[in-house]
Amino acid sequence: MNNFEFCNPVKIIFGKGTIARLSAQIPREARVLILYGGGSIKKNGVYDQVKEALADFDTFEFGGIRPNPDYETCMRAVDLVKSEGITFLLAVGGGSVIDATKFVAAATYFDGEDPWDILLKGSPIREALPLGCVLTLAATGSEMNERFVISRNENRLKLGFASPLVFPKFAVLDPEVTYSLPLRQVINGVVDSFVHVIEQYLTYPVNSRVQDAFSESLMRIIVEEGKKVLKDKTNYDIRANLMWAASNALNSWIGQGVPQDWSSHRIGYSLTALFGLDHAQTLAIVLPGVMEYKKEAKREKILSLGRNVFDVTSDSDDCIVNDTINAVEDFFLSMGLPTRLAGFGIRKKDLDSLVEHIRIMDWKLGEHADIDWQVAREILALRF
Ligand code: NZQ
Ligand code: ZN
Repeated sequence: MNNFEFCNPVKIIFGKGTIARLSAQIPREARVLILYGGGSIKKNGVYDQVKEALADFDTFEFGGIRPNPDYETCMRAVDLVKSEGITFLLAVGGGSVIDATKFVAAATYFDGEDPWDILLKGSPIREALPLGCVLTLAATGSEMNERFVISRNENRLKLGFASPLVFPKFAVLDPEVTYSLPLRQVINGVVDSFVHVIEQYLTYPVNSRVQDAFSESLMRIIVEEGKKVLKDKTNYDIRANLMWAASNALNSWIGQGVPQDWSSHRIGYSLTALFGLDHAQTLAIVLPGVMEYKKEAKREKILSLGRNVFDVTSDSDDCIVNDTINAVEDFFLSMGLPTRLAGFGIRKKDLDSLVEHIRIMDWKLGEHADIDWQVAREILALRF
C-alpha cells in the first residue's frame, strides 16, 4: 500500500427529518445564499423544510443551476455573492448544485484573471467561502468530497478540480427526500456510485486489504440495493443504504494509498459535453470498453471483482475475466442503461470530435498514465 495523508472534515447529519437540524450547523450571523437547481425542491417540500429551518437567518436565493452546471451560471451566482455580502453558501440539490456551489465558493476569492483558469489550468485557489449541503440525489459523493466538475458551453469543455478548501462543512442526508427522484436519476445515481468505486479499485494489487474489502462490499451493496430500488421505490432502508453507499464511494476513504484510474470518467466528459448524455450514461458506455481494452493490465483486480462481487466461478481465469466484464455490462443493462454509443445515435464519424477534448487537455489517463487521446479513440471504437 502506498503512503497517504488524509483528512475528511465533512460532518454528516443522516436520517429522516434531519433538515430541521440545519440551523445548528450555520453561524447565526451568516448571510446565507441558498443555491438550487431547476425547481424540484419546490415541488417535493425540501425548499419549505430548508426555509423553515433557517427562518431566523438572513437568507438569499440563487436557483436555476442546471445538470452538468455551467460556468456562466456559476459566475452569475458569484456576482450575487459579492453584491449581497454573502458569507455562507448552502447547496440544496444533487451533485450539479453542490459542484456549482463549490466553484462559486472558490471563484469568489479567485485573484487571477478568470476563475475558469481554476479548471482549465488548475490555477491554485487560496481561499473559499464556507459551504454546506442538503443532498437530494445520491450519486456523486460531492456532498462529502472536495471535487467539482463544471462545463463551459461556449468551448464545449467539461472539467474537474479538487481542493480541500471546498470540502463542505456539513452535509444533511435525508434519504426520504430522494423518493421524488425520477427513475432515470435514481438509476444514474446507482451506476455513478458503482463506477466511483471501480475507478479506485480496478487497477493492480498493492496489498491494500482494507480498501479492497471496503470497495468490494460497497459494490455488492450498490448492485443489490440498486436492483431492489427499481421495484420498491419508497423503501426507506433501500434509499438509506444507497445514499450512504454513494457518499462512501467517493469521500476519499477507499482511495487512500491505492492507484486509481479515472479514465472512464474523463472519457465520459466528452460524451456529455458534445452529446448531452447524463454523466452516468457515459460511464455505462465507457467502462466496459476500458475493462476490455485493459484486461491484461487489470487482470488481477478483474479476477477479484468477479469472484468477490459478482460471484463469478470457473476453472479458467480467462473465463472469469471475460465473464466479469460481461457481468458489469449486464448490471448496467439490468438497470436500464444502454451500454453502446449507437444507443444514443453516436456514429463512427463522431469519434474524432469525441477525443478532441482529451487531445486539447493533453490528458494521460489510467493508473499507468498510458491512455492518451489515441488510446481513448480505440476504447470508444469498441463501444458501437
Ligand atoms: O435541478 P432540479 O430541479 O433540482 O432537478 C434535478 C436534476 O434535473 C433532479 N433532482 C435532484 N434531486 C431531486 C431531483 N428531482 C426530484 N427529486 C429530487 N430529490 O435530478 C436531476 C439531476 O441532478 P444532478 O444534480 O445533475 O445529478 P447528479 O447528482 O447525478 O450530479 C451530476 C453532476 O455531478 C458531477 C457530474 O459530472 C455532473 O455534472 N459529478 C461530480 C462529482 C464530484 N463532485 O465528486 C463526481 C462525479 O463523478 C460527477 O462527475
Ligand atoms: Zn461520477
